[in-house]
Amino acid sequence: MCGIVGYIGGREAYAILIDGLKKLEYRGYDSAGVALLGPAGLKVIKSRGEIAALEGKVGENIPSGTIGIGHTRWATHGAPSDINAHPHCGCSPQFAVVHNGIIENYLPLKQWLQAEGHHFSSETDTEVLAHLVEQYYKGDLFEAVSAAIKKVEGSFALVAVCEQEQGKLVCTRKDSPLVIGLGEGENYIASDVPAFLNRTRRVCILEDGEMAVVTAGGVEVFSAGGEPVQKKVSEVTWDAGEAEKGGYPHFMLKEIMEQPRALRETMRGRLLDGGKEINLAELGFTPAQCRQIGRICIVACGTAYHAGLVGKYAMEKLLRLPVEVDLASEFRYRDPLLDPETLVLVISQSGETADTLAALRLARRRGNRVLAITNVVGSSVAREADQVLYTWAGPEIAVASTKAYLTQLLSLYLLTLYLGKQRGALDGESLAAMGAALYKLPSQVETLLAREAELQEIAAYLAPWESAFYVGRNVDYAVALEGALKLKEISYIHAEAYASGELKHGTLALIVEGIPVIALATQSAVLEKTLSNIKEIKARSGHVICIAREEELSFAAEVNRIFTVPAAPDIFMPILAVVPLQLLAYYTAVARGCPVDKPRNLAKSVTVE
Ligand code: M6R
Repeated sequence: MCGIVGYIGGREAYAILIDGLKKLEYRGYDSAGVALLGPAGLKVIKSRGEIAALEGKVGENIPSGTIGIGHTRWATHGAPSDINAHPHCGCSPQFAVVHNGIIENYLPLKQWLQAEGHHFSSETDTEVLAHLVEQYYKGDLFEAVSAAIKKVEGSFALVAVCEQEQGKLVCTRKDSPLVIGLGEGENYIASDVPAFLNRTRRVCILEDGEMAVVTAGGVEVFSAGGEPVQKKVSEVTWDAGEAEKGGYPHFMLKEIMEQPRALRETMRGRLLDGGKEINLAELGFTPAQCRQIGRICIVACGTAYHAGLVGKYAMEKLLRLPVEVDLASEFRYRDPLLDPETLVLVISQSGETADTLAALRLARRRGNRVLAITNVVGSSVAREADQVLYTWAGPEIAVASTKAYLTQLLSLYLLTLYLGKQRGALDGESLAAMGAALYKLPSQVETLLAREAELQEIAAYLAPWESAFYVGRNVDYAVALEGALKLKEISYIHAEAYASGELKHGTLALIVEGIPVIALATQSAVLEKTLSNIKEIKARSGHVICIAREEELSFAAEVNRIFTVPAAPDIFMPILAVVPLQLLAYYTAVARGCPVDKPRNLAKSVTVE
């Protein structure tokens, strides 16, 4: 939700800010702006629309300055417009701030500031921050920002610049991410590392409540209490090229195609000897701790929640352990029952999703052990969980999550097998067989990706429709939910997923002639039942596109179109079944002319409630 960048150094800042903002556009793209501090003072330019619109507005009149801040917005308070775009200034244009998060008490603060004589020009919550800094400014920007944030409730990552203090940027955060990139004679600030990954890999992550004074020559960090903090500098191992499109028309397609590699990276060092050996010693669980787990509670949002649903099927089946899966936004407000034997497992690609983070904190406050599956090293979730199992998918930029989902599934399977071994729930033979099956998955995914043209053809049928259904039984139902989410978020087709057995309890009324129904039939244990459900749909003239196991060609005669996937143990089939659904969603969105990587109203990282 919103991307922030800051630059201070010896070079002209505008191009660096724009480049950084483009890398963060996945965080929001309804308006953008920059503030440049140069010899002529502070110059603020903002525009509704994507960063290209801002560039169009600037045209040839590129503002000069070697210090600057920039912002790409995902609107919360106030519609997308030039005025509501960041940076925001106080009454005088001497101060400018960019902000990611929500200031919950902005209304009373605004009223108080207005009574003090401040004039507001936007409808945003952020503008109060600029006026607060102005209100408290007595010749020291650091002190003014420090006083301002003491007044606010809510979440913020904030960077401030002041015309009277030419050599510094001041930044701080609470519940929204902020990282500082360390260069040579120049430094960067951003919501996320890809913003400056092509310029430096040395980063310092700001913790909640910390404040930093960033100059061209260095970075000073202070605790919430004002004490200097010695920060650890980390080296980011992601390659800058990984955050670029690399010749693909969209990040989403690139990320779908990267899935075999992402799976291999995630199993590296964990699945050994062709799958015969599984090792998650990195978690630091003692065998006794593994055995003490009495229940697992999985908490996540969106696609990560769908991965959690697959995890439930796998863990309950293989470990015979009760598993609940909760949406983080529900979990955090429903006073969940958590006994001491419950392991809370949070899943988040970004590691910054506000609801997931709040759920994690709630579980830790209750004294429960929290294990996180996340993709971003150093993210809030990674830092606050007791244990972390990283998915090594590399940066995921497209709003629609693909490679993160696959690696989340793989991580859940690895965890299941590991716990199965430690708890004695799985014997050596089954472990070896399942390990070997997991090991084969990346090359099986490769064979699916090579057949993208078939999905492009099926997408041509889907594209003109405004509704579609996804059905599946058992773990296929969890995959159907993910397939439907992919289609709706990028193609805007109203897609609904149902457990196949539920259709006749109401939804069958919606089946009209030709309507696309994507039926998953990968679970050998329930194939007959699935086939009966498909016949029910066909009998009502639905157009059935079936994703079936390759040895089940009998389905071909019963459906309008079949796409077969290689066989694996039933419980691992989601990794294979979802790939055609991702490609189908992608090519349908392309056929409809949708902005695949930047779907309307969405943003990649949901750091607000
Ligand atoms: O970063 P997270 O995994 O916590 O994100 C959770 C959801 O916001 C995310 O999966 C979202 O549903 C995706 N846009 C789906 O493609």
